Amino acid sequence: MCGIVGHVGDEQATPILLDGLRRLEYRGYDSAGLAVHARDGIEIVRAVGKLRNLEKALLQEGLPGKVGIGHTRWATHGRPSEVNAHPHVAGPVAVVHNGIIENHLELRSELEASGFTMSSDTDTEIIAHLVHRETKEGHDLATAIRRSLEHVEGAYAIAVLSESEPDRIVVAKNASPLVIGVSQGATYCASDIPALLPYTNQMVFMEDGELAVLEAEGFTLTKLDGTEVSRRPRSISWSPVMAEKDGYKHFMLKEIFEQPRALEDTLRGRLDRENADIATPEIGLSDEDAKSIRRVILLACGTSHHATIAGRYWIEELAKVPAITELASEFRGRDAVVGEGDLVIAVSQSGETIDTLMAAKEAKKRGAKVLAIANVNGSAIPRMSDASFYTHAGPEIGVASTKCFITQLANLLMFSIWLGRRRGAIDNAQAGELVEGLARIPQVIGERLRITHLTISDIVRDFADARDVLFLGRGLGYAMALEGALKLKEISYVHAEGYAAGEMKHGPIALLDARVPVIVLMPKDRHYERVSSNLQEARAREARIVGVTVAGDTQGQALCERFVEVAETSEALSPFVMVVPLQLYAYCVADHKGTDVDQPRNLAKTVTVE
Ligand code: M6R
Repeated sequence: MCGIVGHVGDEQATPILLDGLRRLEYRGYDSAGLAVHARDGIEIVRAVGKLRNLEKALLQEGLPGKVGIGHTRWATHGRPSEVNAHPHVAGPVAVVHNGIIENHLELRSELEASGFTMSSDTDTEIIAHLVHRETKEGHDLATAIRRSLEHVEGAYAIAVLSESEPDRIVVAKNASPLVIGVSQGATYCASDIPALLPYTNQMVFMEDGELAVLEAEGFTLTKLDGTEVSRRPRSISWSPVMAEKDGYKHFMLKEIFEQPRALEDTLRGRLDRENADIATPEIGLSDEDAKSIRRVILLACGTSHHATIAGRYWIEELAKVPAITELASEFRGRDAVVGEGDLVIAVSQSGETIDTLMAAKEAKKRGAKVLAIANVNGSAIPRMSDASFYTHAGPEIGVASTKCFITQLANLLMFSIWLGRRRGAIDNAQAGELVEGLARIPQVIGERLRITHLTISDIVRDFADARDVLFLGRGLGYAMALEGALKLKEISYVHAEGYAAGEMKHGPIALLDARVPVIVLMPKDRHYERVSSNLQEARAREARIVGVTVAGDTQGQALCERFVEVAETSEALSPFVMVVPLQLYAYCVADHKGTDVDQPRNLAKTVTVE
């Protein structure tokens, strides 16, 4: 989705804005632009395509000034073009905007009827004109914005400059994320934390319906109705180095290799090995609450949804509580039966995905308790939830989620053990084995990462040109099969399907022939024999089998054209080891094809629009 950066302070704004936009590239974009208060008024430079095009334009134009705003646009209203790129200007006002103004058509006709001329197809330009109209009435910038936003329906995070107030930026938000960064002599804003990490770790998360005036010496925060809000900055523990490639060819590869560290950080202090339990007050439920939960509803989108499928299996198996998982976009689109006694777990890397956020809000309104599992501290979903159980994966820059997925698995398994213990569904011995197993997982994964990468790179040479790929698994392996297929689709643009192996003969088997690789997940679990039979059925249709097998499983390996080995674990822990080769498979195919691994076409890291 679009990215916003703003700077007001003693330094030149342009290099800071460009650097911030570069750090937001992972969110996905198709054009970019800057507006800076220069000596003779606001100057704007915009360009279609990657940031290097904007940099080239800047070399020609130059853009000196200490107060400015920048934007990367991911087209929603109006095609990617220079004229549709932000900032949008009306009179003395320049605006960048993330989100969607739902009543933009109505506002556009109204403005055009009163003589305003639009130069783009965007909904954002409407805001610029509304604010301009109010400044013409003599209102200062903050008041003009407040008055303008009274007419606006929809989602927005905006940053606005006005030629008559050259020492400030005014920002406001509703439904789209916006943070303010504070340092000595400079104040910043951004749509996402990584943009600001080199400049400050002191951040204020704006809430919906708030407006802030940013000046070099600090900021004032108010509600849209003008009421003052007092909020101290929080210290963010992420470092700028965490958001850099560190010698890896792509962020995605770095993040796959970071998984042992991400898991260690996520598990740290939460595994109570002495009592075979999970020690985390962050779950926010008393032992009594744990006993009275009637049902768990897991809500998420994309990769996070796949984590919840594993979560559902764990919760039912280990805590014996009915659990369902549903795509957040579907849940919120229907009249779901939810209420008191339900615990909703909203899982989201970014903590800002609009469908997950709205679905969780809806469930909360109807009486459910909401527990967030998120990676970004202070993001919208944790803020609206009753409790937040964070993953500690660090910033994830690759659009394709890897280390956050594996840490979501860790939190969901920890939650299941925690709940199982409180409900007496698992005994000391079983819980002890799980806790010990989890404690070893980072090392178990770490030991095999390099060899798995080498093996998969080799396998991919034979399979990279396949146009369709099927991923099969049962039980927890089914959730990983879905994830393997999504990863491959996202970054290599190869058509892939994840299927419950038992379902293959109900349809997908018709697709199989000698050109279709079938990647079969074969952990040594209760499903092993049945998965082997499904594999044989695929082989009988001449499909090319790639097995993800446990080390030394010669019986399974003999059925495969190629195989990669993972460490043998208990069934409950198998997703952690099974998913790594699938992430590497997708990565190696994409790298082989030369696609844009970290910023795949049409995708955005955080989906904050409907
Ligand atoms: O930030 P979230 O976890 O809520 O994001 C949900 C999906 O948009 C996300 O998982 C998406 O599917 C990723 N690109 C997967 O790699």
